Amino acid sequence: MAEMNAVSRFFVNRVKGRANKRLYKWLTAHLPLPAGATCLEIGCGNGNMAARIMDGMSPASYVATDLDPRQLDAAKRYLAERYPTGLPDGLELRTADMLHLLFTDGSFDAVFAFAAIHHASPTHGDFTNVPRALTEIDRVLQPEGILAYEEFLHKDKIRLWLRDHRYQVIASDKRWTREVVVATKPSAPSERATQILA
Ligand SMILES: C[S@@+](CC[C@H](N)C(=O)[O-])C[C@H]1O[C@@H](n2cnc3c(N)ncnc32)[C@H](O)[C@@H]1O
Repeated sequence: MAEMNAVSRFFVNRVKGRANKRLYKWLTAHLPLPAGATCLEIGCGNGNMAARIMDGMSPASYVATDLDPRQLDAAKRYLAERYPTGLPDGLELRTADMLHLLFTDGSFDAVFAFAAIHHASPTHGDFTNVPRALTEIDRVLQPEGILAYEEFLHKDKIRLWLRDHRYQVIASDKRWTREVVVATKPSAPSERATQILA
């Protein structure tokens, strides 16, 4: 895990929470989330996007996960303020490492990763662990499921991985160094994915 210091955590949990308003607005127009979808978010930070998607898109379930206990504490605080009478039905917070997701194959209709995938390796610029994280996401996503992510790093390499695994990019948005991508998993696993898993 790429460690975040206190300044990074402050930035992500306070400042990015506001930028997420624009991200969420874009997703409302480009994310074909089916009614009653089962969703997983990796690297959920303070839970800001989890709450936005939960409130606005009404999935049946939304498991918001993070590896860093300090971030899960921040999420508990943020969600407790947002939902003073308790979390909405279907929303839960869990500890999970994107490199070893504790969910069975094909558990989710959609997986979200907002500014999270580049945290797969110990340093942000290092791509080494990113394919493992993408393979884990692919494993827990059901065929034809949706992957939506926001990234600042490794954008071309992640796109190549998606292409190699026959994901179809159905929408994307580039702004400055940031890219948001919505892609769908193929209905059958790719030969390359089968080889990796063998
Ligand atoms: C830049 S923050 C993004 C937070 C949130 N998604 C957002 O957009 O506001 C990246 C998050 O990924 C988490 N993270 C880092 N390594 C992880 C790992 N191996 N598995 C799951 N989450 C991880 C961090 O703790 C942090 O909360």
